[in-house]
Amino acid sequence: MTIAIRPLHPLFAGEVSGLDLRRPVSPADVAAIEAGMDRYAVLVFHDQPIDDEQHLAFTKAFGTPQKGSNFVAKRDSLRLDPVFADPSNLDKQGKLRDRFDATRLGRFGNRLWHTDASFWAQGAKYSLLSARTIPPTGGNTEFADMRAAYDALDAATKAEVEDLACEHSILFSRAQLGFADFTAKELEDNKPVRQRLVRTHPVTGRKSLYLASHIGGIVGWPQPEALAFIRDLIEHATQRQFVYAHTWSVADLVMWDNRQTMHRGRPYDDLTYARDMRRTTIAGDGPTVAQAAA
Ligand code: OGA
Ligand code: MN
Repeated sequence: MTIAIRPLHPLFAGEVSGLDLRRPVSPADVAAIEAGMDRYAVLVFHDQPIDDEQHLAFTKAFGTPQKGSNFVAKRDSLRLDPVFADPSNLDKQGKLRDRFDATRLGRFGNRLWHTDASFWAQGAKYSLLSARTIPPTGGNTEFADMRAAYDALDAATKAEVEDLACEHSILFSRAQLGFADFTAKELEDNKPVRQRLVRTHPVTGRKSLYLASHIGGIVGWPQPEALAFIRDLIEHATQRQFVYAHTWSVADLVMWDNRQTMHRGRPYDDLTYARDMRRTTIAGDGPTVAQAAA
């Protein structure tokens, strides 16, 4: 089968046709998808009614899956195998979570512009999100092109950001939502890691801004100045001309490159309607910058 990719946005994001993800993909298809990811950074596959096993098999064609993050959610309450991240509003019994459910509240982190797993030193390469059940309205996922956002910076800002390193921790993004008083174990398990603010794509050589809600500081900067600076950069990088908004259909699979994009989930009536989404993640190649000495 030969695949085709149709652009969905002037800058990035493409729709892939000519593949059935329930079946093993050929090396040629994998190479074509990887080339598509390098070019488009977000790829949409429609009409892919896959199960978890097929989802995982497709994921493994692109590298080593890493476990989902589970801030707040306790392992014994996980609905899915730990290799899946679960951005749904469902509990282990498949029931809608209550308004004050701790796992529901932690998942509001997905509403902030972020990249997946930047708070782990190895970062993440691709994420693959599959829609099993969707609400009647709302619940889009938006993507922003961090290459275009970098390109659009003025020369002075490009020079200023070129060699900066940021501190990332999932606790910084949760603090933005009002989570506080982290336990000693949470602090120990979620120590900040350093990532370059400007990264270069290993294949295309394009530079991009490695931004995320998980950033809580810039190495060598006073924290308030760093946070104000990062806030401005995120505002710049998420202007509408850099954003593709994906409206989900059941059985869509969307794959994005965390090294070149940010994303966020949009609201929906999660107390009334189920939204069953499942995500796998390919581990990144390693830290983008040396870590602080322990
Ligand atoms: C994710 C995520 C947003 C959404 O799965 O990584 O951020 O719209 N999801 O579910
Ligand atoms: Mn995410």
